[in-house]
Amino acid sequence: MAERTVVLGVTGSIAAYKAVDLASRLTQSNVVVHTVMTKNATHLVGPATFRAITGRPVSTEMFELTNPFAIEHVSLADAADLVIVAPATANVLAKMANGIADDLLTCTLLATRAPVLVAPAMHTAMWEHPATRENVERLRARGITFVGPAVGRLASGGTGIGRFAPVEEILDEAFRLLGRHGDLAGRRIVVTAGGTHEPVDPIRFLGNRSSGKMGYAIAEAARDRGADVTLVSGPTALRTPGGMRFLPVATAAEMLDAVRGAVVNADALVMAAAVADYTPDAPAVSKLKKTDPSLVLHLKRTADVLGSIGDVPVKVGFAAETENLIENARDKLRQKGLDLVVANLVGKDSAPFGSDANEVALIDKRGVEELPRAAKREIAERILDRVASLLVKA
Ligand code: CTP
Repeated sequence: MAERTVVLGVTGSIAAYKAVDLASRLTQSNVVVHTVMTKNATHLVGPATFRAITGRPVSTEMFELTNPFAIEHVSLADAADLVIVAPATANVLAKMANGIADDLLTCTLLATRAPVLVAPAMHTAMWEHPATRENVERLRARGITFVGPAVGRLASGGTGIGRFAPVEEILDEAFRLLGRHGDLAGRRIVVTAGGTHEPVDPIRFLGNRSSGKMGYAIAEAARDRGADVTLVSGPTALRTPGGMRFLPVATAAEMLDAVRGAVVNADALVMAAAVADYTPDAPAVSKLKKTDPSLVLHLKRTADVLGSIGDVPVKVGFAAETENLIENARDKLRQKGLDLVVANLVGKDSAPFGSDANEVALIDKRGVEELPRAAKREIAERILDRVASLLVKA
């Protein structure tokens, strides 16, 4: 996200303090954040907080004589790759819908050609008021992206719709919009992640140690490089990422169905999921009781998802092995007709499952590239570098 600029508009909702976290997370992702606060917002959070968090001046007035920008709303509007209004009050939505520009933030919103992302936060009755409903519809029709509001406890004491959306959800959309001109822009990429659960009876399943972290990192990185992403995920403990299509599945058979549907017109399939190779051939309809001293489960082979999908221009598979990593990965490359295999050696302690880091080798027809141990997100970027160049060739 380096060299991307966000103008963060903070308006006078109690949730203004949560915008500090948003500003912090954007700054940590190397985004340049220029905060513009309305007068009301400054009653709730001090500009000094945003200045310290973002390391940049904070604009609060239309006519600040000390400001280096000559015509600030125009220069801010031009500099922005994205304008985020978070939190957005009913008042600022009404001004935006009507093109009113009576302070620095609304002038900037009127002058910008950058996409605009809005995270409303207000009392339920204000959100549900016909005036706000109409304003929101008009803004949506103009292509403005809304995140939230969420349902939950409100500052007014009650519960209902109107709560500021979780910062993670705002970031998902922000990164998608900031990445829209990336090297995967316009590419449709299907990513699978997590392990599958094969039912033994209504209570138990056969599963594996996959956490889903590698696949999720690839899906998020692809989104942030402009791709139109579909994530097909087995059960995981991870947060469902935004800014992409999300298809939850449980079994290998469901994974096959979901991937088959998702790859129609897709440019690339990245199978990071750990799909079961065997499934109980007749799962018990009621709970198995421990009546016998031993129990034999009969398993049958599942369909090979990667092997049975032929018409995707770029196919990437994963290989987790405990020995003969490179040889086995080369076999997979050939047998499954893959363009790339991401191979990782699984140790006795079951690393890298569940870890945030990984050490892999990238194997294609031409050879083996061993990547140094790195965060899964970093590895995801290297895999996508390969996918991007394979797509150019394809
Ligand atoms: N895969 C798949 N469908 C399956 C099983 C695996 O598409 N039913 C994909 C995985 O997502 C992964 C790759 O195939 O990308 C792993 O290859 P596979 O040969 O299944 O790995 P192993 O099960 O480890 O192979 P083997 O048992 O042959 O060693």
